[in-house]
Amino acid sequence: MTAIATTEASLRPSKYLENPGHGDAFTDHLVTARWTAGTGWSAPTLGPLTNLSIHPGMIGLHYAQVVFEGLKAFVQQDGSIAAFRPRDNAARFARSAARLAMPEVPQEMFLRAVEDVVRADADWLHDNPTHTLYLRPLLYASETQLMLRASNEYTFLMMAFLAGGFFGDQVQPVSVHVSREFTRAVPGGTGNVKCAANYGPSLLAQQQAQAAGCQQVVWLDAAEHRFVEEMGGMNLFFVRDGRLVTPALTGTLLPGNTRASLLTIAGLEGYPVAEERITVEEWREGCRSGAITETFACGTAAVVTPVGRVRDGDDWFTIGDGGMGPATARLRQALLDVQHGRRADPGGWLHRIC
Ligand SMILES: Cc1ncc(COP(=O)(O)O)c(C=O)c1O
Repeated sequence: MTAIATTEASLRPSKYLENPGHGDAFTDHLVTARWTAGTGWSAPTLGPLTNLSIHPGMIGLHYAQVVFEGLKAFVQQDGSIAAFRPRDNAARFARSAARLAMPEVPQEMFLRAVEDVVRADADWLHDNPTHTLYLRPLLYASETQLMLRASNEYTFLMMAFLAGGFFGDQVQPVSVHVSREFTRAVPGGTGNVKCAANYGPSLLAQQQAQAAGCQQVVWLDAAEHRFVEEMGGMNLFFVRDGRLVTPALTGTLLPGNTRASLLTIAGLEGYPVAEERITVEEWREGCRSGAITETFACGTAAVVTPVGRVRDGDDWFTIGDGGMGPATARLRQALLDVQHGRRADPGGWLHRIC
């Protein structure tokens, strides 16, 4: 593998080299741009990652006029670095902003910010090509004002952290808890965009899942509490009667880029794919009858993670033999191979940066 070009020495603490985990191995740089109603967007600047100084009466802090994204840059087989589907994240970021009455970050500005941070912090990927740079674009209402109205000022930030495995270094099946008490998203709400306000209210259900002996929460639809929608911050797939099925995008699910990528890759791998609604009852009965042989979660952070056991109230059921099934393993490997440039890129998804 050829060396990755670096512009300056990284400040990374050595404790992150072995296992950077997920979410706190922040890199050294930050892109910042500001928008005001009168002047539009300022030219984005790349600077060192620093703390922010904000007024306690900032709109974003009080009324959650805040949206974000999550995407990754991967070391390629030839040693270069590419971001995965950044245009799709830019598009979803723009949709999220529009839903919260915020100005959209132009796609080219978003891409430029991704490129600038990745170039500046590429040397964080030197030591271990399986690590990734997780990029976190953030847009928040930065006007000081406590009248309940849309802000006249916004700040766009692009930061990054070094990421290892979301569920640890090994791929182990996770157990999940069906939340019967709480709902993630309602028709007409914000479930199909990535706004900060979707995540705070999910944490209590996540704590309940852990108290119930599970690692993650599974969300059901708000109207009937029957249809499986998502798992934590991930989309779900089922292998049912030999087909790969993922819950249909009803407007209350986040349309994941990983979900979309897997639908394409699975088709290329010869799996019949379908987007359909699936109830908890069908999931449980399918596992008992053998019609459902695998379930996995997918997302930028989790990649592809098998689901081994499900808890619904006092009832537990096991999927397949509780381990990682063959379709899950194959699709996980195929996705990682595309992301690292080890197999043909089926959709022009890789955006080479340096
Ligand atoms: C609620 C939710 N669902 C699904 C996903 C997976 O989306 P993606 O594959 O684009 O990371 C995410 C992560 O962004 C999420 O927060």
